[in-house]
Amino acid sequence: MRWLSLSSRSVFVVVATMLVTVVAVRAIGTSAPPADEGVQAAAAQKTAAPAAAAQDPVLRGRELVINHACGECHGGGEDPSAKGWLAGLTPGSQTAVEFEIGPPPCGLEPKAKGCFKTRPRNLTPDNDTGMGRFTERQLFNALRFGLRPENTPDVVITSTTPGQGNFPKIPHYLAPPMPWPGWRHMPDADLRAIAAYLKRGLKPVVNKVPESEGPPDFWASGMTPENIGTYPAPAFPTANETMPAAKDRARVLRGRQLVLDHDCAACHRGPGPDSKGWLGGITSPTQAFVLGPCFTDEKVPCFTGRPRNLTPDKETGLGKFSDQQIFNALRYGLRPSDTPDVKITSMKPGVGNFPKEPRYLGPFMPWAAWRYMKDEELWSIIAYLRHLKPIENKVEASTDTPDHWASVVATLAPYPSVPYPTVNEVRRK
Ligand code: HEC
Ligand code: HEC
Repeated sequence: MRWLSLSSRSVFVVVATMLVTVVAVRAIGTSAPPADEGVQAAAAQKTAAPAAAAQDPVLRGRELVINHACGECHGGGEDPSAKGWLAGLTPGSQTAVEFEIGPPPCGLEPKAKGCFKTRPRNLTPDNDTGMGRFTERQLFNALRFGLRPENTPDVVITSTTPGQGNFPKIPHYLAPPMPWPGWRHMPDADLRAIAAYLKRGLKPVVNKVPESEGPPDFWASGMTPENIGTYPAPAFPTANETMPAAKDRARVLRGRQLVLDHDCAACHRGPGPDSKGWLGGITSPTQAFVLGPCFTDEKVPCFTGRPRNLTPDKETGLGKFSDQQIFNALRYGLRPSDTPDVKITSMKPGVGNFPKEPRYLGPFMPWAAWRYMKDEELWSIIAYLRHLKPIENKVEASTDTPDHWASVVATLAPYPSVPYPTVNEVRRK
């Protein structure tokens, strides 16, 4: 089936389109969080960080790359053994495709005006065309601050204000839809681990990706707290969140961090935990995703994916589902409204409580990557979602294929993931 490539292509095109529309219509103004708030949030992040210090950074980085869907844009999906794994835009690739960024109908209409072509880059350590040119610190700065390594010196950065603490006076940001506003919320050790994996865990692939196009300010006017939220995240709890009992606090904070650093809010509504409607689901049909082959062939239908209300509202949110049902959604992609509330012990339809006729969430929801998170991580996310204040917001059901996406799911990377090292991987010094 060619669904997956076409649909994931349009996913990100539309995400990007949404982002840039927002950028275009919002007034520009910066309101940095008060200093003590930032400090509190940083402290919360510290307590929430996992005690995984002992893990090999290359292997940890691999895990993070897989469960943050990097390969959905940079090549290879969630499969480190796939051809083109993280090698960037390649002609004919199923995953690594070019984006059209700009106000609608950019990305939907080939003739649309005022659009920029952006291209996922080669993340393998090739010295001429990939990350071999940059230090691990430059990659860290790309993921934490969105600074293009090509244009940003190799220094420790201690501020996000241009001109201060080594933050460049004229920052060159990475082009959308690179989701660094989500990735930046990962703990330092995780971002370093990703850099270690890219530089030391992969074989170099020669693949020269043409430069992305962009506006003269290198996207700076769009990178405001109104559009991308604040870093560090606002102190917990905000007006949208409730304080858990002391015994649950660490888990809920861990879940909050994972929700932030997987960018759930890019689709389920953000930008930050202090914004109105946080994770309350879409509020307008224009925020839905249209997916399917209709973009290239008018005679075939498209499908509409609508990011849902993740707050605990009983009628319109996740309140009517058990924790187990949400877990089954994140691990197996099973739609909670159509899947019984049981513990599942197999991935074979009809075996170990896995439904005979599974009804999967549409591919816009990146559960194919989220499922590689550890059990503990998924349960932490669920604990956090349970500590949101309920928002009443009814999101229409998404449309799906007659087989409820089963043939798309059949093409996904193996779960659990292929052991390290694959043909694309190697232990480098
Ligand atoms: C939604 C698509 C998308 C996803 C998912 C994504 N990226 Fe990117 N990434 C891009 C695009 C597009 C660019 C090019 C930006 C530019 O040219 O300014 C990029 C650029 C980069 C760069 C800068 C490379 C350079 O040479 O400038 C790094 C590093 C990077 N991505 C790492 C990652 C990692 C690590 C992940 C997963 C944690 C990830 N990306 C996930 C789209 C994506
Ligand atoms: C790229 C967009 C996107 C991102 C990012 C995303 N989701 Fe979703 N999500 C969707 C869409 C679209 C649906 C609806 C799918 C459907 O109805 O088939 C959905 C559905 C869900 C559902 C099922 C809800 C229900 O009532 O059926 C859950 C739970 C969920 N998402 C949780 C998350 C979490 C947690 C994250 C972050 C770890 C996340 N999502 C990130 C797009 C996204």
